[in-house]
Amino acid sequence: MNRSSEPRNDIDWASLGFQFTPVRSHIRYTWKNGEWSKGTLCNEHTITMSVAATCLHYGQAAFEGLKAFRCKDGRICVFRPDENCKRMNRTVHQLLGPEIPEEMFLDAIRTVVRDNIDYVPPYGSGGSLYIRPLYIGTGSQIGVAPADQYDFLILVMPVGAYYKDGLHGVPALIIEEYDRAAPLGMGQFKVAGNYGASLMPAKKAKLRGFPIPLFLDPKEHKYIDEFGTSNFLAISRDGTKYITSDSASILPSVTNKSLMQVAEDIGLTVEKRAIEVGELADFSEVDACGTAVVITPISSITYGDTVFQYANECGKVSKKLYDRLTGIQKGEVEDTHNWLFEV
Ligand SMILES: Cc1ncc(COP(=O)(O)O)c(C=O)c1O
Repeated sequence: MNRSSEPRNDIDWASLGFQFTPVRSHIRYTWKNGEWSKGTLCNEHTITMSVAATCLHYGQAAFEGLKAFRCKDGRICVFRPDENCKRMNRTVHQLLGPEIPEEMFLDAIRTVVRDNIDYVPPYGSGGSLYIRPLYIGTGSQIGVAPADQYDFLILVMPVGAYYKDGLHGVPALIIEEYDRAAPLGMGQFKVAGNYGASLMPAKKAKLRGFPIPLFLDPKEHKYIDEFGTSNFLAISRDGTKYITSDSASILPSVTNKSLMQVAEDIGLTVEKRAIEVGELADFSEVDACGTAVVITPISSITYGDTVFQYANECGKVSKKLYDRLTGIQKGEVEDTHNWLFEV
């Protein structure tokens, strides 16, 4: 279909938040009898499946999150979709489901973004098209076992800048009575069940006035793991080091991986290692990083009676990292690492 690739004029782009918004279509593939079907663009926003589907009973459900941006020169580009494909395949391998060929994953993204191209927010609005690949076991199975049928869908929706008035610091709380994942469990995979486990601790932290929970390593409760939906990064007091957690129970963030590269590009030393809680006193800047906001400055971290205090605004080094990465995403800074996938 020939449709305008310009942003629609019936959406108030400035007031967009981060919520489900029905658009024109999502794309859907089914794996049956050993092969993936061709992709179909679907215009409805519901799905019909067996009441005995394994995604409903036995946790065969995985997802991803990434974004498409309208760039300065008018191109529409997705940020590092190959990385999300690799991560999704690591997850589905763990769930004993069939993997998704990278070519199919990228083609699915291209097709569904193109079909909804007028929902990509304008350049300069701070918004983006959020892309949510979803993978579910849809075969019927009443004993605990992997399904014989799977659906792979990609939804898209326009989202606004997460924080409308700039990067302000947010207080975090170290969660002491819950773990996000088990030491040898599923924390490094993006399975739906991990997020079910995070709901109660996140709610309790919010009720105490902390929008962001911070989890410790589940084995010893001694090292920093990650925030509820983002990785942990810190800048050393002398401003020369980018320090981030190395742990088997955290999700390998595409944003963190990219920021580590950007940090090296601007001359910082990157340390990916176990970080003891006590070290929180040694950092000048602490941030949460992930696709949703790229960098959220952390203004304080509360751990029992101890409060580690940081600045209320985004730190100097963090701001440099943020500007450089978001600049690449919007086509304002040269994409020297070939991270943009043009649709
Ligand atoms: C638990 C968790 N950690 C980290 C991240 C950040 O990952 P990414 O940068 O790939 O969005 C996410 C978001 O996907 C997450 O859910």
